Amino acid sequence: MTAVRPDFVIEQNWGGYSQEEHAIWRLLFERQQRLLVGRACHEYLEGLDGLDVAASGIPDFRRLSDILDRATGWRIVAVPGLVPDDVFFAHLARRRFPSTCFIRRRDQLDYLQEPDIFHDICGHVPLLMNPVFADYLQAYGEGGLKALGLGHLQRLARLYWYTVEFGLIATAEGLRIYGSGILSSAGESVYCLEDPRPRRLRFDLRRIMRTRYRIDDFQQLYFVIDSFQQLFDATRPDFAPIYQEIAVLPDLEPTAPIDRDLDREFVDVGRKKIGPHISAAQV
Ligand code: PHE
Ligand code: FE
Repeated sequence: MTAVRPDFVIEQNWGGYSQEEHAIWRLLFERQQRLLVGRACHEYLEGLDGLDVAASGIPDFRRLSDILDRATGWRIVAVPGLVPDDVFFAHLARRRFPSTCFIRRRDQLDYLQEPDIFHDICGHVPLLMNPVFADYLQAYGEGGLKALGLGHLQRLARLYWYTVEFGLIATAEGLRIYGSGILSSAGESVYCLEDPRPRRLRFDLRRIMRTRYRIDDFQQLYFVIDSFQQLFDATRPDFAPIYQEIAVLPDLEPTAPIDRDLDREFVDVGRKKIGPHISAAQV
């Protein structure tokens, strides 16, 4: 092995994947394909089509990067796992998406706390084919470097969590998924739209920055955007004064009571229109 590079980039070594690893990819891929039609937003499904991420096995990053680069100027770089925050943000700011290379084992199909190649590639990369989302993630990387300098990383990380990882989007056909943490999870891609327990609030930058999140179970709260343009525009202002403003306010739990004057909740939006899994009791 060569020494770790300062940007943590490694070789994917695509030729080194075993038949079992490709088979696990196919299993995950086919299962999510079935679940995500009618649940993922159309931008995601179109990105997936455009990338031609195959059901046939783990994709080669070089091939994917060439397609992605032609569409939005992003590339995928292989990294060994979670990388330091500053390294992660610097990659995003330069339109490079750091992806892990390993795939979960067969006995971990449903649950994994750390990202693997299926989450990183199937969850994150298709949306990077969308020009507005592609710009948002680059801006997030730049904002991350800035937040690090200002000491407000935790508040910015919540924005990533509640948008990039666990975001929902309202469409004329109903709520749809765009968060990669949901898109790569069989259980949560159904739960987030169809289960009556989690709450779904309209996107609110300040509330997101104040709201804690849990990493060990399905989310209790989702935030819903109207469009990627709305998300991009709402996050365009300088966050420095917003961090200041929020620093004096208490953090919120995801289960904190909803203030009906401030929060706009989706009570029945979309879920009626999703398909066969809906029961009237969910409204
Ligand atoms: N506008 C943010 C800032 O000033 C940068 C940012 C953009 C952060 C998009 C996140 C997402 O810090
Ligand atoms: Fe992720």
